Amino acid sequence: MIELRGIERDEVPAFRAAVTFGFGADELPEAEFTPEAVDAFLDVAALATMMVGVDRGRFVATFASRDFDLAVPGGASVSMAGATMVTVLPTHRRRGLLTGLMERHLAQAARRGQVLAGLRASEETIYGRFGYGSAAPCYALQLPADTVAVPPPVGDAGGAQPALRLVGADEAATLLPPVYDRHWRCVPGLLSRTPAWWQERLLRDPEHRRRGATARRHVVAEQGGAVTGWASYRQLDNWSAGRADGAVEVEDLHAFDDQARRALWHFLAHVDLYPNVRWGDCALDDPIFLEVDRPRRLITRLQDTLWLRLLDPAKAFEARRYERDGEVTLAVNDPLGIADGTWHLQVEEGRGRCRPVAGPAEVTLDCRAAGAAYLGGVPLLTLARAGWAEGASDAVARLDGMLRTARAPWSPEHF
Ligand SMILES: CC(C)(COP(=O)(O)OP(=O)(O)OC[C@H]1O[C@@H](n2cnc3c(N)ncnc32)[C@H](O)[C@@H]1OP(=O)(O)O)[C@@H](O)C(=O)NCCC(=O)NCCS
Repeated sequence: MIELRGIERDEVPAFRAAVTFGFGADELPEAEFTPEAVDAFLDVAALATMMVGVDRGRFVATFASRDFDLAVPGGASVSMAGATMVTVLPTHRRRGLLTGLMERHLAQAARRGQVLAGLRASEETIYGRFGYGSAAPCYALQLPADTVAVPPPVGDAGGAQPALRLVGADEAATLLPPVYDRHWRCVPGLLSRTPAWWQERLLRDPEHRRRGATARRHVVAEQGGAVTGWASYRQLDNWSAGRADGAVEVEDLHAFDDQARRALWHFLAHVDLYPNVRWGDCALDDPIFLEVDRPRRLITRLQDTLWLRLLDPAKAFEARRYERDGEVTLAVNDPLGIADGTWHLQVEEGRGRCRPVAGPAEVTLDCRAAGAAYLGGVPLLTLARAGWAEGASDAVARLDGMLRTARAPWSPEHF
């Protein structure tokens, strides 16, 4: 009999070792298990829950969750329980351990009043059954800068171009967080970042995470004395073809206006000896696809990023804003029973009111479809054609129009 339970602080090292093993990585170095390292891990991870499956004293399954605020359309944000560190040992797979832990996680998150549940998936086959939908697909992009021309930077109305500056991690850790804090709610799909999270992303850079590439480098775009964007990246050299064929691997790229965006793309595509720009999290509507001279040479793969699951549909639909007014009666069909219900959603001047109703719904959404459509990036019409939503075509089209947003949601955070 396998016991599913939470863990105590002195079990954190065993928990981390089990997570590492579960993902098939080498053992963590000893330095990761000192009391100070455990403190740092708990601080950065800021986990709301840590659970395990235990078989004869051994951790055979792990599951953790961390609370975020998620930016939703219209500049607002909403609470999201983010699942992470999910593993089951190969000896114990497909026996329902993930299912048991996930059901506990979702029930706890709903009890704690989290409006949404979210995660990044290692495989796209795993989480639909638990009501999650892929809400902010992006392109994993490779740009061969030796054959594709990226246009030069442009200036603002007064002709001024952003200045680019390479900064060390310490300076980046001072410069970037306040800028991110001012902007992240304007981009649906972005997540709140804590000071400890920045610490982890900028200052901690252990060798075993670099996969042969350099330490992180940071380039900052500044205009009028203010930071308007940045890219954090690594360089991976490659001389195997008898010539320099290295890669610039982008880890974090934010640009808060088009001048910064153009300048950063141009910089990344012009690092001598490193002509391959790789970025796993390029927004679907990034103008780079129009700006390069040879878009056919870009290598793109459609990639899911944030998977969302509604826990409290009424609060979720009231939290976001809408670009089109309208009203519709909608039902969410949740096999786990958490988000089940029927509501009348009325949007006036971009604000939604969601009241429970008893009657039949005009549109019934599978729980996965509700998560996928919530940020406005995945058209409800398409979800309905795939059989994930049902209703008269005019009602589906009406709700589709209400949920859609002009800009694609974008969720590059790995957690
Ligand atoms: C993914 C993982 C956690 C699944 O754990 P598990 O305990 O085997 O999952 P369960 O037994 O609860 O499976 C529940 C259902 O999901 C299906 N499922 C689970 N993992 C799946 C996968 N990777 N691909 C396809 N289906 C999967 C099972 O077949 C089962 O289906 P059924 O209900 O129709 O029988 C485990 O395989 C693992 O640790 N993988 C390596 C690490 C990893 O990828 N973690 C996820 C990080 S996001």
